[in-house]
Amino acid sequence: MRIDVLKLYNFRNYRQLTISFHPQLNIIYGKNGSGKTNLVEAIYVLALSRSFRLVGDKTLIMDDFSKCIIEGKIVDNYVNYYQIILTKDGKKVSIDHNKVAKLSDYISKIPIILFHPDDLRFIKDTPSTRRKTINISISELDINYLKYLNNYNKLLKQRNAYLKQMFINGNSESDYLDILTDKLIKYGILINEKRAEFVNLINSFIDDFYTKISGIEKLEINYISSFNGLNKDQIVDLYKKSLAKDLNFGKTNIGVHMDDLKFLLQNKDLRDYGSEGQQKNAIIAYKFSEIEIFKKLKGCYPILILDDLFSELDSDKIKNILFLLKKDVQTFITTTEVDKFKLLDKLAYKQIRIQDGEVVEESEYERR
Ligand SMILES: Nc1ncnc2c1ncn2[C@@H]1O[C@H](COP(=O)(O)OP(=O)(O)OP(=O)(O)O)[C@@H](O)[C@H]1O
Ligand SMILES: [Mg+2]
Repeated sequence: MRIDVLKLYNFRNYRQLTISFHPQLNIIYGKNGSGKTNLVEAIYVLALSRSFRLVGDKTLIMDDFSKCIIEGKIVDNYVNYYQIILTKDGKKVSIDHNKVAKLSDYISKIPIILFHPDDLRFIKDTPSTRRKTINISISELDINYLKYLNNYNKLLKQRNAYLKQMFINGNSESDYLDILTDKLIKYGILINEKRAEFVNLINSFIDDFYTKISGIEKLEINYISSFNGLNKDQIVDLYKKSLAKDLNFGKTNIGVHMDDLKFLLQNKDLRDYGSEGQQKNAIIAYKFSEIEIFKKLKGCYPILILDDLFSELDSDKIKNILFLLKKDVQTFITTTEVDKFKLLDKLAYKQIRIQDGEVVEESEYERR
């Protein structure tokens, strides 16, 4: 899949822009603060209806305006026109000029894999960040997963609220609690299966990518979950054993909302032992694995965005990563130093220079 044309109105520092992209590689360059990330962010928002930056939608609208529009011509076997309009009151989305009422019917149609410097948090941060990250990854592959998650989270809230009430009332047994627990377990098992499947798939690719970027060292991800290896009865038992604690704390202490992932490099936890560079390369290997999983399960390649990936990498690593780019994967790279990409003699690409929210130069290079 690829984006052919992007149009922006009042998006961040872009007052008005129409730009066509190269089907293979686009290198967006310019000074700090010129609008490089904003441009790839627009593509991301068009696809997923929200930003990867942890901000509210309002910040996407150009200062002093009340509405912004992002439009894209998306090409895969067909050509489709996607549009998203953001106002201070909410967002409206349409495909081929037909309004799409439910956001869930709109998102995930344009698959995107993004690298952003904040992604290092995937390794460094708390389990909750890691869960969020794979939740996004799996949701893009499987619509049902999002439904399971929403149901699970709703039930978890209900169960926690009910536990608190039981504690106040001095109850330790309740049919209603059993019903909630049963449903929670049902969705928990589905989520656990999907996550385990996904991590297995990642592991079938990640080590190879890591080696190609960084040299031979064994990288794998461990999926940690209290549900792993247990059947339903055993899980029900776990909940029974945890009930006294659950009542005391007024919350559910067992379940997939406590899951975690570990990146292991040579069997050592990258979070505790890895250098910045190793962590970054592991994330890149993860992203490239995601691309292959996407192709395997969905039959098409997603769009790849590498925002500010190359700033602190040595030239060997840059070369190795560029070597992994595929001509079938439309890729966007943002950089302040376009000269770093002179070594790109194998790929056809387009260079786009940005200055103050405007494209000031475009040049295309053919494959040599
Ligand atoms: N809602 C908005 N309205 C107007 N300008 C905005 C808005 N949001 C962000 N900006 C401006 O966009 C610019 C930042 O753009 P962006 O993050 O794309 O920069 P960049 O080119 O990626 O820079 P860097 O190289 O530092 O990553 C800033 O000048 C900021 O003031
Ligand atoms: Mg940036």
